[in-house]
Amino acid sequence: MLDLSRDRRRYPAPAKINRFLHVTGRDADGYHALQTVFQFLEWGDVLDIRVRDDRRIQLDGGVSGLATQDNLVWRAAMLLQEYSGRAAGAEIRVHKQIPPGSGLGGGSSDAATTLVVLNHLWELGLGMDELCGLGLRLGADVPVFIHGRACFAEGRGEKMRDVAPDEGAVCVFLPDAHSSTAAVFARPEMKRDRAPIPLEGWPQAVQDAHNDCEAAAEAETPELGKIAAQLRSAAAFHMSGTGAAYFALAPDREKLRTIAGLVGAVPGRVVTSSVTNLSPLYMKLCAASSAAGS
Ligand code: C5P
Repeated sequence: MLDLSRDRRRYPAPAKINRFLHVTGRDADGYHALQTVFQFLEWGDVLDIRVRDDRRIQLDGGVSGLATQDNLVWRAAMLLQEYSGRAAGAEIRVHKQIPPGSGLGGGSSDAATTLVVLNHLWELGLGMDELCGLGLRLGADVPVFIHGRACFAEGRGEKMRDVAPDEGAVCVFLPDAHSSTAAVFARPEMKRDRAPIPLEGWPQAVQDAHNDCEAAAEAETPELGKIAAQLRSAAAFHMSGTGAAYFALAPDREKLRTIAGLVGAVPGRVVTSSVTNLSPLYMKLCAASSAAGS
Protein backbone atom coordinates (compact mmCIF):
# COMPACT_ATOMS: atom_id res chain seq x y z
CA MET A 1 0.00 0.00 0.00
CA LEU A 2 1.28 3.45 -0.80
CA ASP A 3 2.44 5.60 2.07
CA LEU A 4 0.41 8.61 1.01
CA SER A 5 0.01 10.62 4.19
CA ARG A 6 -1.86 13.86 4.61
CA ASP A 7 1.30 15.89 4.05
CA ARG A 8 1.45 18.07 1.00
CA ARG A 9 3.07 16.06 -1.78
CA ARG A 10 4.17 16.74 -5.31
CA TYR A 11 3.03 14.64 -8.24
CA PRO A 12 4.11 14.96 -11.89
CA ALA A 13 1.58 15.69 -14.62
CA PRO A 14 3.87 15.07 -17.61
CA ALA A 15 3.51 16.36 -21.16
CA LYS A 16 2.85 13.90 -23.99
CA ILE A 17 3.95 13.83 -27.60
CA ASN A 18 2.30 12.17 -30.60
CA ARG A 19 5.00 10.35 -32.58
CA PHE A 20 2.55 10.38 -35.51
CA LEU A 21 -1.09 11.42 -35.78
CA HIS A 22 -3.42 9.95 -38.41
CA VAL A 23 -7.03 11.07 -38.84
CA THR A 24 -9.00 8.11 -40.20
CA GLY A 25 -12.57 9.38 -40.12
CA ARG A 26 -15.23 11.46 -38.47
CA ASP A 27 -18.11 10.19 -36.30
CA ALA A 28 -21.74 11.29 -36.69
CA ASP A 29 -21.27 13.71 -33.74
CA GLY A 30 -18.40 15.46 -35.56
CA TYR A 31 -15.62 13.92 -33.43
CA HIS A 32 -12.60 12.58 -35.31
CA ALA A 33 -11.30 9.01 -35.28
CA LEU A 34 -7.52 9.02 -34.75
CA GLN A 35 -4.56 6.66 -34.73
CA THR A 36 -1.45 7.74 -32.86
CA VAL A 37 1.46 6.63 -30.70
CA PHE A 38 1.73 8.50 -27.39
CA GLN A 39 4.88 8.86 -25.31
CA PHE A 40 5.56 10.95 -22.20
CA LEU A 41 8.09 13.65 -21.44
CA GLU A 42 9.95 13.91 -18.14
CA TRP A 43 9.06 17.60 -18.28
CA GLY A 44 5.58 18.84 -17.40
CA ASP A 45 3.30 20.31 -14.74
CA VAL A 46 3.52 19.47 -11.04
CA LEU A 47 0.56 19.16 -8.67
CA ASP A 48 0.72 19.50 -4.86
CA ILE A 49 -2.19 17.46 -3.51
CA ARG A 50 -3.32 17.22 0.13
CA VAL A 51 -6.44 15.61 1.57
CA ARG A 52 -8.94 17.70 3.57
CA ASP A 53 -11.29 16.33 6.21
CA ASP A 54 -14.24 18.32 4.87
CA ARG A 55 -15.65 17.88 1.36
CA ARG A 56 -14.14 21.08 -0.03
CA ILE A 57 -12.04 21.02 -3.23
CA GLN A 58 -9.65 23.98 -3.03
CA LEU A 59 -7.66 24.85 -6.14
CA ASP A 60 -4.68 27.22 -6.44
CA GLY A 61 -2.38 28.11 -9.33
CA GLY A 62 -2.83 26.82 -12.86
CA VAL A 63 -3.96 28.72 -15.92
CA SER A 64 -4.60 32.39 -15.18
CA GLY A 65 -7.99 33.71 -16.22
CA LEU A 66 -9.61 30.25 -16.27
CA ALA A 67 -12.71 29.99 -14.04
CA THR A 68 -12.38 27.29 -11.35
CA GLN A 69 -15.47 25.50 -12.69
CA ASP A 70 -13.81 25.19 -16.12
CA ASN A 71 -10.50 23.93 -14.74
CA LEU A 72 -10.01 20.23 -15.56
CA VAL A 73 -8.29 19.63 -12.19
CA TRP A 74 -11.29 20.92 -10.27
CA ARG A 75 -13.71 19.06 -12.58
CA ALA A 76 -11.73 15.81 -12.15
CA ALA A 77 -11.80 16.08 -8.33
CA MET A 78 -15.52 16.91 -8.30
CA LEU A 79 -16.30 14.06 -10.70
CA LEU A 80 -14.41 11.56 -8.53
CA GLN A 81 -16.06 12.83 -5.35
CA GLU A 82 -19.51 12.58 -6.90
CA TYR A 83 -18.86 9.16 -8.50
CA SER A 84 -17.40 7.60 -5.34
CA GLY A 85 -19.67 9.31 -2.82
CA ARG A 86 -16.59 9.71 -0.56
CA ALA A 87 -16.94 12.54 1.97
CA ALA A 88 -13.35 13.78 1.58
CA GLY A 89 -11.94 16.92 0.00
CA ALA A 90 -8.57 18.09 -1.30
CA GLU A 91 -6.24 21.06 -1.57
CA ILE A 92 -4.56 21.12 -4.96
CA ARG A 93 -1.92 23.56 -6.18
CA VAL A 94 -1.01 23.41 -9.88
CA HIS A 95 2.52 24.48 -10.90
CA LYS A 96 1.89 25.11 -14.59
CA GLN A 97 4.68 24.58 -17.13
CA ILE A 98 2.85 23.16 -20.16
CA PRO A 99 1.20 26.02 -22.09
CA PRO A 100 -2.50 25.56 -22.94
CA GLY A 101 -3.00 25.11 -26.68
CA SER A 102 0.39 23.47 -27.21
CA GLY A 103 -0.75 19.94 -28.19
CA LEU A 104 1.23 18.51 -25.27
CA GLY A 105 -1.84 17.51 -23.25
CA GLY A 106 -1.27 19.73 -20.20
CA GLY A 107 -4.88 20.08 -19.02
CA SER A 108 -5.58 16.38 -19.66
CA SER A 109 -2.45 15.34 -17.77
CA ASP A 110 -3.39 17.56 -14.80
CA ALA A 111 -6.85 15.92 -14.75
CA ALA A 112 -5.36 12.41 -14.96
CA THR A 113 -2.90 13.05 -12.11
CA THR A 114 -5.79 14.39 -10.01
CA LEU A 115 -7.89 11.24 -10.65
CA VAL A 116 -5.02 8.77 -10.07
CA VAL A 117 -3.67 10.45 -6.92
CA LEU A 118 -7.07 11.12 -5.30
CA ASN A 119 -8.06 7.50 -6.03
CA HIS A 120 -5.10 6.54 -3.80
CA LEU A 121 -5.40 9.30 -1.20
CA TRP A 122 -9.15 8.78 -0.73
CA GLU A 123 -8.56 4.99 -0.77
CA LEU A 124 -11.27 4.43 -3.38
CA GLY A 125 -9.64 1.39 -5.00
CA LEU A 126 -11.04 2.16 -8.47
CA GLY A 127 -9.40 0.10 -11.23
CA MET A 128 -7.66 1.42 -14.32
CA ASP A 129 -10.66 0.86 -16.64
CA GLU A 130 -13.04 2.66 -14.30
CA LEU A 131 -10.64 5.62 -13.92
CA CYS A 132 -10.09 5.77 -17.71
CA GLY A 133 -13.87 5.80 -18.23
CA LEU A 134 -14.15 8.77 -15.86
CA GLY A 135 -11.20 10.46 -17.56
CA LEU A 136 -12.79 10.16 -20.99
CA ARG A 137 -15.73 12.22 -19.73
CA LEU A 138 -13.25 15.08 -19.16
CA GLY A 139 -11.30 14.89 -22.44
CA ALA A 140 -10.06 12.53 -25.15
CA ASP A 141 -6.42 12.63 -23.96
CA VAL A 142 -7.11 11.99 -20.26
CA PRO A 143 -7.19 8.14 -20.43
CA VAL A 144 -3.69 7.86 -21.91
CA PHE A 145 -2.23 9.76 -18.95
CA ILE A 146 -4.14 7.49 -16.54
CA HIS A 147 -2.89 4.45 -18.47
CA GLY A 148 0.63 5.82 -18.03
CA ARG A 149 2.44 3.70 -20.61
CA ALA A 150 3.42 4.49 -24.21
CA CYS A 151 0.71 3.14 -26.45
CA PHE A 152 -0.81 2.89 -29.90
CA ALA A 153 -4.16 4.64 -29.38
CA GLU A 154 -7.21 4.57 -31.64
CA GLY A 155 -10.71 6.01 -31.82
CA ARG A 156 -10.90 9.15 -29.72
CA GLY A 157 -7.84 7.86 -27.87
CA GLU A 158 -9.61 5.39 -25.61
CA LYS A 159 -8.45 2.15 -27.33
CA MET A 160 -4.88 1.75 -26.11
CA ARG A 161 -2.33 -0.97 -26.76
CA ASP A 162 1.15 -0.77 -25.23
CA VAL A 163 4.11 -0.29 -27.55
CA ALA A 164 7.75 0.57 -26.89
CA PRO A 165 9.15 3.17 -29.30
CA ASP A 166 12.70 4.51 -28.89
CA GLU A 167 13.21 6.69 -25.81
CA GLY A 168 15.83 9.41 -25.38
CA ALA A 169 16.56 13.10 -25.54
CA VAL A 170 14.04 15.53 -27.01
CA CYS A 171 13.98 19.22 -27.87
CA VAL A 172 10.51 20.79 -27.54
CA PHE A 173 9.80 24.14 -29.13
CA LEU A 174 6.94 26.23 -27.73
CA PRO A 175 5.96 29.04 -30.14
CA ASP A 176 4.34 32.10 -28.56
CA ALA A 177 1.23 31.17 -30.59
CA HIS A 178 -1.59 29.06 -29.16
CA SER A 179 -3.53 26.48 -31.21
CA SER A 180 -7.22 25.67 -30.67
CA THR A 181 -7.95 21.94 -31.10
CA ALA A 182 -11.60 22.56 -32.03
CA ALA A 183 -10.66 25.21 -34.65
CA VAL A 184 -7.97 22.97 -36.19
CA PHE A 185 -10.32 19.97 -36.49
CA ALA A 186 -12.96 22.23 -38.11
CA ARG A 187 -10.61 23.54 -40.89
CA PRO A 188 -11.31 22.60 -44.52
CA GLU A 189 -7.59 21.69 -44.92
CA MET A 190 -8.09 18.86 -42.42
CA LYS A 191 -7.39 15.50 -44.05
CA ARG A 192 -9.83 12.98 -42.58
CA ASP A 193 -9.62 9.95 -44.86
CA ARG A 194 -6.33 8.21 -44.13
CA ALA A 195 -6.62 4.41 -44.33
CA PRO A 196 -6.33 2.87 -40.85
CA ILE A 197 -3.10 0.97 -40.19
CA PRO A 198 -2.96 -2.36 -38.34
CA LEU A 199 -1.29 -2.49 -34.90
CA GLU A 200 1.90 -3.97 -36.38
CA GLY A 201 2.19 -0.92 -38.67
CA TRP A 202 3.11 1.40 -35.77
CA PRO A 203 6.95 1.25 -36.10
CA GLN A 204 6.76 2.36 -39.76
CA ALA A 205 4.26 5.10 -38.87
CA VAL A 206 6.59 6.33 -36.07
CA GLN A 207 9.42 6.42 -38.59
CA ASP A 208 7.32 8.36 -41.14
CA ALA A 209 6.12 10.65 -38.31
CA HIS A 210 3.25 12.18 -40.24
CA ASN A 211 0.79 14.46 -38.47
CA ASP A 212 -2.48 14.87 -40.42
CA CYS A 213 -3.43 17.91 -38.32
CA GLU A 214 -0.36 19.93 -39.22
CA ALA A 215 -1.59 21.51 -42.49
CA ALA A 216 -4.85 22.55 -40.80
CA ALA A 217 -3.03 23.91 -37.71
CA GLU A 218 -0.67 25.94 -39.91
CA ALA A 219 -3.62 27.24 -41.97
CA GLU A 220 -5.42 28.26 -38.76
CA THR A 221 -2.32 29.96 -37.31
CA PRO A 222 -0.11 31.01 -40.26
CA GLU A 223 2.93 31.99 -38.16
CA LEU A 224 3.28 28.30 -37.22
CA GLY A 225 4.22 27.40 -40.81
CA LYS A 226 7.03 30.00 -40.76
CA ILE A 227 8.26 28.75 -37.40
CA ALA A 228 8.16 25.12 -38.62
CA ALA A 229 10.31 26.03 -41.64
CA GLN A 230 12.90 27.68 -39.38
CA LEU A 231 12.90 24.72 -36.97
CA ARG A 232 13.28 22.21 -39.81
CA SER A 233 16.40 23.92 -41.09
CA ALA A 234 17.95 22.86 -37.74
CA ALA A 235 16.53 19.34 -37.18
CA ALA A 236 13.60 16.99 -37.95
CA PHE A 237 10.89 18.79 -35.95
CA HIS A 238 7.30 17.42 -35.85
CA MET A 239 4.09 18.97 -34.55
CA SER A 240 2.57 17.35 -31.46
CA GLY A 241 -1.22 16.90 -31.47
CA THR A 242 -2.91 19.90 -33.08
CA GLY A 243 0.03 22.16 -32.14
CA ALA A 244 1.33 24.68 -31.43
CA ALA A 245 4.39 22.79 -30.02
CA TYR A 246 6.98 21.01 -32.18
CA PHE A 247 9.49 18.39 -31.03
CA ALA A 248 12.69 16.84 -32.38
CA LEU A 249 14.31 13.70 -31.00
CA ALA A 250 18.07 13.74 -30.55
CA PRO A 251 20.36 10.68 -30.50
CA ASP A 252 22.32 11.98 -27.49
CA ARG A 253 22.66 14.95 -25.09
CA GLU A 254 25.37 16.62 -27.14
CA LYS A 255 23.23 16.62 -30.30
CA LEU A 256 20.32 17.86 -28.15
CA ARG A 257 22.38 20.86 -27.02
CA THR A 258 23.31 21.57 -30.64
CA ILE A 259 19.66 21.51 -31.77
CA ALA A 260 18.58 23.70 -28.82
CA GLY A 261 21.31 26.20 -29.72
CA LEU A 262 20.33 26.27 -33.40
CA VAL A 263 16.66 27.06 -32.67
CA GLY A 264 17.43 29.50 -29.85
CA ALA A 265 16.81 32.51 -32.10
CA VAL A 266 13.36 31.36 -33.32
CA PRO A 267 10.62 33.33 -31.47
CA GLY A 268 9.31 31.09 -28.68
CA ARG A 269 10.67 28.93 -25.86
CA VAL A 270 12.97 25.89 -26.02
CA VAL A 271 12.65 23.03 -23.52
CA THR A 272 15.07 20.11 -23.42
CA SER A 273 13.88 16.89 -21.81
CA SER A 274 13.65 13.12 -22.24
CA VAL A 275 10.96 10.96 -23.83
CA THR A 276 9.85 7.97 -21.74
CA ASN A 277 7.57 4.95 -22.21
CA LEU A 278 6.51 4.95 -18.55
CA SER A 279 4.81 8.08 -17.26
CA PRO A 280 6.81 10.00 -14.63
CA LEU A 281 3.61 9.89 -12.51
CA TYR A 282 3.89 6.11 -12.28
CA MET A 283 7.65 6.30 -11.66
CA LYS A 284 6.85 8.53 -8.68
CA LEU A 285 4.02 6.28 -7.41
CA CYS A 286 6.17 3.14 -7.80
CA ALA A 287 9.03 4.83 -5.91
CA ALA A 288 6.62 5.87 -3.11
CA SER A 289 5.23 2.34 -3.03
CA SER A 290 8.64 0.64 -2.73
CA ALA A 291 9.78 3.19 -0.08
CA ALA A 292 6.65 2.32 1.95
CA GLY A 293 7.38 -1.41 1.56
CA SER A 294 11.06 -1.21 2.57
O1 C5P B 1 -10.28 16.66 -26.58
P1 C5P B 1 -10.50 18.13 -26.51
O2 C5P B 1 -11.52 18.52 -25.50
O3 C5P B 1 -9.24 18.94 -26.44
O4 C5P B 1 -11.14 18.52 -27.94
C1 C5P B 1 -11.55 19.83 -28.26
C2 C5P B 1 -12.42 19.80 -29.52
O5 C5P B 1 -11.66 19.33 -30.65
C3 C5P B 1 -13.61 18.87 -29.46
O6 C5P B 1 -14.72 19.48 -28.86
C4 C5P B 1 -13.86 18.58 -30.95
O7 C5P B 1 -14.53 19.67 -31.56
C5 C5P B 1 -12.45 18.53 -31.52
N1 C5P B 1 -11.94 17.15 -31.57
C6 C5P B 1 -12.32 16.29 -32.60
N2 C5P B 1 -11.86 15.01 -32.63
C7 C5P B 1 -11.01 14.55 -31.68
C8 C5P B 1 -10.59 15.39 -30.62
C9 C5P B 1 -11.07 16.69 -30.60
O8 C5P B 1 -13.08 16.69 -33.49
N3 C5P B 1 -10.58 13.28 -31.74
